[in-house]
Amino acid sequence: MPLFRLDASIRTDGSASREIADIVEAEWLVVHPGDTIERRNIGGGVLPADAWAHAVAGNSTPAKARSKEQQAAVALAAALVDELVTADAVLLAVPMYNFGVSQHVKTWMDLVISDPRAAAGSPPLLANKPVVLCTVRGGAYGAGTPREGWDHSTDYLRRILQDFWGADLTVIEREFTLVGVNPALDGFKDLAAHMHHSALASAREVGKVLAATRAA
Ligand SMILES: Cc1cc2nc3c(=O)[nH]c(=O)nc-3n(C[C@H](O)[C@H](O)[C@H](O)COP(=O)(O)O)c2cc1C
Repeated sequence: MPLFRLDASIRTDGSASREIADIVEAEWLVVHPGDTIERRNIGGGVLPADAWAHAVAGNSTPAKARSKEQQAAVALAAALVDELVTADAVLLAVPMYNFGVSQHVKTWMDLVISDPRAAAGSPPLLANKPVVLCTVRGGAYGAGTPREGWDHSTDYLRRILQDFWGADLTVIEREFTLVGVNPALDGFKDLAAHMHHSALASAREVGKVLAATRAA
């Protein structure tokens, strides 16, 4: 079974989250050459914003009585869950936007959770499955910084992936990706370069470990 990769950046060129995930993916392919990587780009190929409501309504409607919209939404949610459950390992590249996850990520999460296989009370969807989350932020949110406590993305993702879905989760983080873009952050160039370097080094190590979770 494949590696499943989800990208949530709204850009491709210059994407810091994709740069990290590319390294993890490359390490996977070193051990599993020729493997097909299953992909979903929710930053570009967006999921319909109204699908979740139709999926929720559809799940409480007998299959034969579902509207066309409900049928499509239930099928979409099932396809998203299939991508996760059929994968040997999962790689997620998710930036912070507006102090949280983008609506693309929330829609993806909500649709997955609408499927009976992922809902509360079901066995954890990703029980013990190796999952790597590559997450990036333009600013910095560590202890003692002015924006400590403003990162509503990383903990949310950890709660869902690790605590709700039971994944064997590894998180690679990079902050200050806007240094060099936003002049107000110019004083942090050295720190940002160090964070960049550390994230890429981490990606190489984590990628090797992820690849080893499946026999070559
Ligand atoms: C619309 C928008 C909103 C953003 N909001 C935040 C934010 O609230 N906090 C933050 O630290 N960075 C924010 N950023 C910066 C991104 O997190 C940063 O550019 C990141 O590197 C984007 O991921 P990517 O490089 O993979 O595209 C925002 C960027 C955009 C385009």
